[in-house]
Amino acid sequence: LERTLSIIKPDAVEKNHAGAIIARLEAEGFTVKALKRVHLSRKEAEGFYEEHRGRGFFDELVAFMSRSPIIVMALEREDAVARYREVIGATDPAKAAEGTIRKLYGASVGENAAHGSDKTSTAAREISYFFAGYEVSPTASSAS
Ligand code: GTP
Ligand code: MG
Repeated sequence: LERTLSIIKPDAVEKNHAGAIIARLEAEGFTVKALKRVHLSRKEAEGFYEEHRGRGFFDELVAFMSRSPIIVMALEREDAVARYREVIGATDPAKAAEGTIRKLYGASVGENAAHGSDKTSTAAREISYFFAGYEVSPTASSAS
């Protein structure tokens, strides 16, 4: 099984869509291995999106991600990274497929309801950015 880092972004938390999004992810076969609600500082948001520093939208992205609380989860499933990105849909909600989370809950390319890791190596870095080892259930255990 594989893991991915999921964030329910400020816009979706503000609109009380977190429960519906988590229910959808569970229905799609993802298991929640760790979960918390946090309000990022600007510095913490910058660190998380470090790869995008220098892009034109970076300041807007950091301001958005730190404006109110987010819900962060480590999710597990077969082929979790790719399957999760299918379920959330394209970055721009206007271009996302019908029924995807960004289509249902996103408003714009900036305020697009959800984040997902883009590859397995990124997922490991992103999960450890938010969770200490003891906060994430181990894999391959009947007590997981
Ligand atoms: P994440 O799952 O959030 O990483 O989205 P992504 O992998 O689909 O897109 P990418 O990593 O390229 O961009 C990260 C985030 O930056 C996106 O989710 C958007 O919220 C934001 N972003 C990307 N392009 C733009 C843009 O042109 N304008 C604005 N305002 N935000 C953008
Ligand atoms: Mg990305």
